Amino acid sequence: MKITILGCGYQGLVTGTCFAENGHTVICVDNNADTIALLQEGKLPLHEPGLEELIVRNLEEERLSFTTDLPRALEGSLMVFLCVGSPSDKDGNVDLDNVLSTAEEIARIREGYQIIVNKSTCPPGTAKKIEVLWRSRNPGDVVVNPDFMKEGSAVDDFLRPDRIIVGCRDIRVQEMMRELYSPFLRTGKPFLAMSPESAEMAKYATNAMLAARISLMNQLADLCEAYDCDIADIREAVGMDSRIGPTFLFPGIGFGGSGLPRDVAVCARLAEEAGLEHDLISAITAVNQRRRQQFLQKILDYYGEEIREKRLALWGVSFKARTDDIRDAPSLDIIEGLCHAGAQVVVYDPVAGPKVAARYGEHIEMAQKYYGALDGADGLIILTEWNEFRRPDYARMGKLMREKVIFDGRNLYTPSVMKEQGFRYFSVGRKTV
Ligand SMILES: NC(=O)c1ccc[n+]([C@@H]2O[C@H](COP(=O)([O-])OP(=O)(O)OC[C@H]3O[C@@H](n4cnc5c(N)ncnc54)[C@H](O)[C@@H]3O)[C@@H](O)[C@H]2O)c1
Repeated sequence: MKITILGCGYQGLVTGTCFAENGHTVICVDNNADTIALLQEGKLPLHEPGLEELIVRNLEEERLSFTTDLPRALEGSLMVFLCVGSPSDKDGNVDLDNVLSTAEEIARIREGYQIIVNKSTCPPGTAKKIEVLWRSRNPGDVVVNPDFMKEGSAVDDFLRPDRIIVGCRDIRVQEMMRELYSPFLRTGKPFLAMSPESAEMAKYATNAMLAARISLMNQLADLCEAYDCDIADIREAVGMDSRIGPTFLFPGIGFGGSGLPRDVAVCARLAEEAGLEHDLISAITAVNQRRRQQFLQKILDYYGEEIREKRLALWGVSFKARTDDIRDAPSLDIIEGLCHAGAQVVVYDPVAGPKVAARYGEHIEMAQKYYGALDGADGLIILTEWNEFRRPDYARMGKLMREKVIFDGRNLYTPSVMKEQGFRYFSVGRKTV
């Protein structure tokens, strides 16, 4: 089948490439000509493990192509996947302009029957709006197909999903979607069919639930610090309960990225608009925002006024490991807070360096290697759980640093080991040593 993908960001590239990998002919469209030029050469505008290799292979085998030419991309395609951004502000108001104007543009161009599949995260009721635009000229169907891939393991998540959710009103279209996804569901994972509105809500509900676990765990970490307990022990104790499970229970500096913070805010906004209570949902966001400030305050309290003379090394900026995505990363608030306080900040991130440099310019110093950032540093601040930070050479670190202090926002090290190595070590939900 020929498939058209609209939007060549994280979502669109992974979706298009994985369908091509399954033998479909996929044409991906973006209105950013620089992005398309890069992709046509088999180069990526973003970092996602395993994706480049698949793109190159499918380009070579002519199952995958990239263009800015929307009319050409739509020719002969039965399904068009919308993977454009659907940004929202901090109050949870979603800007649907991009999604709706793209759907309208395609409706204007297309000839004959087509199915539009919305993978962009949109509030319940959006599919209905798309339906009106979509059917204004030609017959067609609208499907909601939320995605749950995680940046950093997106290819694997797409190829081996926990479930596929499809919201549509037509049983034949539903069966076509089942057939499309059947190669990904061979291990018996479920295909869940529901109304478009429920499918739209399923994405927000999932993210609100995940975010709630993190915020609750972070408050439990504070409790552990106050009562001399170790959150790592508590996490194990809690996670072993079969009613709870072990994932999404790691305490830290809070969640970030383009999904969780935004989707929780949208949930609160939707409740507000429906005249419903949303104190629990809103608390998830409030706890998360405070988290960043609390961690920053720990650093500011330690150095006091002298922070203006301090050179602080920072490891990791991306909102999580294995991605270069820095959208709403907790690290940004911490970098900005440190710069505001007058510290000299030296940053290292394995892949997000260019995005960080473009954002902060001369306000911060970029290090090319992670030990390089430590040279003459009065402290190290760890903000992303990159694997390469997990077992460093402590002796080498100690020699490079002027002051052996570590603020670890991801609990990568063992306090007793850090004490033995002569570091002052601050972590989350554990005793400072
Ligand atoms: N990133 C994720 O992990 C993820 C996971 C699940 C769902 N989603 C959803 O997928 C959607 C896209 O997210 P993303 O992270 O890929 O965003 P992104 O910003 O990385 O990519 C969006 C792409 O769409 C392109 N675009 C915008 N308007 C266009 C238009 N009119 N025509 C053609 N191209 C256009 C942009 O140039 C950009 O390349 C969002 O709604 C998001 O909520 C993302």
